[in-house]
This record gives sequence, structure tokens and C-alpha cells, in this order.
Amino acid sequence: MDMFKKAKSKLAAVPTVNLCFLPTPFEKMQNLSELFKGINLFFKRDDQTGLAMGGNKARKLEFIMPDVLRQQAKSIITWGGFHSNWCRQVAAAAKKYHIKPILLLLKKPGSRNVFNGNYLLSSLMAADIRIVEVDKDQKLMELKGVKQIIDPVFHEEENQGNKPYIASIGGSLLEGSMKRPWGAIGYVNAFFELLQQAAAQQVTIDVVVVATGSAGTHAGLLAGAKLFSPGTKVVGISVSEDKNTLDRYIKNIADEIFVELEIDLKTCAQDIIVFDEYIKEGYGVLNKEVADSIRLVAEREGVLLDPVYTGKAMVGLVDLVKKGYFKDRENVVFFHTGGTPSLFPYGSELAGFRQN
Ligand SMILES: Cc1ncc(COP(=O)(O)O)c(C=O)c1O
Repeated sequence: MDMFKKAKSKLAAVPTVNLCFLPTPFEKMQNLSELFKGINLFFKRDDQTGLAMGGNKARKLEFIMPDVLRQQAKSIITWGGFHSNWCRQVAAAAKKYHIKPILLLLKKPGSRNVFNGNYLLSSLMAADIRIVEVDKDQKLMELKGVKQIIDPVFHEEENQGNKPYIASIGGSLLEGSMKRPWGAIGYVNAFFELLQQAAAQQVTIDVVVVATGSAGTHAGLLAGAKLFSPGTKVVGISVSEDKNTLDRYIKNIADEIFVELEIDLKTCAQDIIVFDEYIKEGYGVLNKEVADSIRLVAEREGVLLDPVYTGKAMVGLVDLVKKGYFKDRENVVFFHTGGTPSLFPYGSELAGFRQN
């Protein structure tokens, strides 16, 4: 069996539950393509996956929830920033299966603790929300960095007879109760879905651009590209971690996907393209460039980006266009990974940038 067929049949055999509205739209951004002379820009609208207002975590959870059910967990313990998209979508998926979502929202000094955005939405779903004040340098990505916060909650659940499932932030790293790259496999599927949509429109995809946080989305898309369209580059714009850390995460997750699918393939250094210079003032900090990029896409295309992930990734894309990173007439797909509920807690800052 050739690699393509084997990967397809292995993917089809991975257990899933149905949480998303798929396929998400694939659309040309005609006005932005005219503005960015030289490239054809398309959007893959994963802000429209459904599941409590959409976003990339819905696809991941379609693959993670069967693992939660297999382990007969009664609660899911996870964590994120105060306005975490991931936590909001975990709450929605867990509720569908009568599993208790326990969300540890790690609040850094100065973060917006308004009853709005994802915090509001997670509260409406009656998630068990615990707000934990942490200092500004608190590392969030790896379980070992938050162990002292997770452990007491884990023991509390165990003592109550609620078998807990620890899901790592973003559903990406192989840690906690998720020992295989389930979340990222959702994005191998997403890449294949995109490829089919593009083929139906006679479009060959040269580059995919995506916001990268915990690396699972990027790793899944990269594994998908290597399996199904080796000529397609996947470019990640980091919103939080430095390039070396992300390169390592992406390699680990993508290579584990190949192991899971029993495909004899590995990523190499040239496959992993990450730009970390657009993080600027830090994760979740809105600056004028991000506000301008949100406005640009909203005004030209009527599409809403978010202040933390896709707005920042768009700053990167626009800058790469200006620097001539893309070749003439390349077809570039921006993966819109969602996050739009966060527009609301950032409302006054966005308004402020308008006046300046
Ligand atoms: C809206 C949005 N875009 C992109 C990402 C990054 O995805 P990943 O964590 O898989 O890198 C996230 C993660 O939280 C997100 O919420």
C-alpha cells in the first residue's frame, strides 16, 4: 500500500466523536489578495467549527474525547490563561458527555478579569472554574510548570471518586492523561480536508500560515502536508513561545503522529518554519499592529480575527508579504483558528487604538 493510502486508512481508523461542523469553509480573500499584490490569499475558516462559538480546539477534541471516554474519566482537569479558548471548548465537549470540566484559569497580573469573552462562555456552561493568581513569569505550557496547581485538584477529584483526566493546555503535548498525539491528529485531517477543497477549485496550496501556541495545530498540519502534499510549506507565527521551544514541540508531536499512523517518516529541521518575532510585548498583549491587522481584515473582508492569536498571526503574514517572503502568485492559506470571543474583553483597548 502506498504511503498516502496507508495514512488515509490509518486516520480513518482513529476513534472520534462528532463535535464539529465540517468541512469548514475555504474561501478566497479577493480584496486582500488585490491589496497584497503578488499572492493569492485564502482563508480556511476554522473559526466556524461550531462547538460553543468555534475555533481550532473543536477538531482536537473530536480525537481527545474518545480517549477521555476510554479511560472512563468523570472529570477533565485542564488549564489556560484567564480568557482561554481551549478551556471554553473543553467545557463544551465535556458537558456533552456528562463529564465535569474543571478549568484552572491562571490569571497573570494585569489580565482582564471581566465577566466577558471566554470566561463568560465557560461560566454559562457551568464549568467548575478555579481562578488562580500566578506571577507574570509563570510558565504555562508544560505540565511540570503547573504541577503544584494541578496536583491538589487531581487528588481532590480522586478522593471524591471522580476519575480525573488531565488534559494539557491546548490539547497538544503528550503529557498528563493524553499519551498519544490525539489533538494534533485532528489537524492532519484538517489538512486533508483543505487539500480536497482546494483541488475542487483547481488551487494548489503553496503555503499555509497558522498562529502557533502549544504547537499541536502546526504539528498536525505539518504532518498532513508531509503525508499528502509534500510541496506545501507550513509557516507558524508564534504568539507565546520562542522558536527553539516550538521547533522542539512541533517535531516531537509530528513525529509521534507518524508513529501513531505507522508511517515511516520523520520531520527534519527544514520542515519546521516558525517566526517568533511577532510575539513582541508578550502573549495576549495587544499592540497597534495587532489592532490594525484585525481592522484590516474586518474592513476589507468582513472577517473577524482575534486579539491574541489570529490578529498576531496576521501581523506576521502581512510583514512576510512586505518582505517578499512569498513567491510571485503563490497560493497562501491563512488558517483562521478562531478566538473571536476574546474581541470583547479587549474592546476598550481596540477602541483606544482607533483614536490614536
Ligand atoms: C484561537 C487560537 N488560535 C490558535 C491557537 C494555537 O493553537 P495550538 O495551541 O495548537 O498551537 C490557539 C490555542 O489556544 C487558539 O485559541
